[in-house]
Amino acid sequence: MPIIAPSLLAANFLRLEDECKMLNESEADWFHLDIMDGRFVPNISFGPMIVEFVRTTTKKVCDVHLMILEPGKYAEEFKNAGANQLSVHIEACTHLHRNIEQIKSLGMKAGVAINPHTPVSELSDVLHEIDLVCMMSVNPGFGGQKFIPHTMEKIKQLRKMITERGLNVHIEIDGGVTVKNAPSIIAAGADVLVAGNTVFKSADPKATISRLKSLL
Ligand code: DX5
Ligand code: ZN
Repeated sequence: MPIIAPSLLAANFLRLEDECKMLNESEADWFHLDIMDGRFVPNISFGPMIVEFVRTTTKKVCDVHLMILEPGKYAEEFKNAGANQLSVHIEACTHLHRNIEQIKSLGMKAGVAINPHTPVSELSDVLHEIDLVCMMSVNPGFGGQKFIPHTMEKIKQLRKMITERGLNVHIEIDGGVTVKNAPSIIAAGADVLVAGNTVFKSADPKATISRLKSLL
């Protein structure tokens, strides 16, 4: 069964407490929180303060996806806000290994996010150091975009690398995940599905989460 990580970016922020309650009552495993700085990506979302509020509503894993430059400057702040896992973008980190060490030394699980143009081979020398690869299946910055088909190939390549080395690293797919394409994403080797619009804009979000959860 896949891990389901609804992205709060698609939630109604006027009703954030209710949206969190809905996720808590659902089969969702993780809360996916998208942080955008208007520099690494062409959009601004929210910061640690919202993570802190969300944290007070849930015991589930808070999976924080940093789409920001200089993530090292903010890692501790997100830890203090209640993040359990922190993913940084490979494209934003000159000293990626240092960022990973920092996240782990703060007591969080470490994730590396890769954009659609970044080959999985670039993960080769850090794969054994991390807990999670957040593979972008859209160009980061906005919810509600269309899944980029070439991601399927990248999932298979990454799954092969992980299996060959006997590692235990999650493959999280982020962007354009739907009830329709989710089965093939899982079949290709992913084990975590992020879903924003598919969950929050559906008529029955809890039922949609159950459908995604019951795949394979
Ligand atoms: C995109 C974010 C995603 C986004 C996914 O930059 O990283 O997590 O919220 O949204 P959907 O599922 O609507 O594509
Ligand atoms: Zn994300």
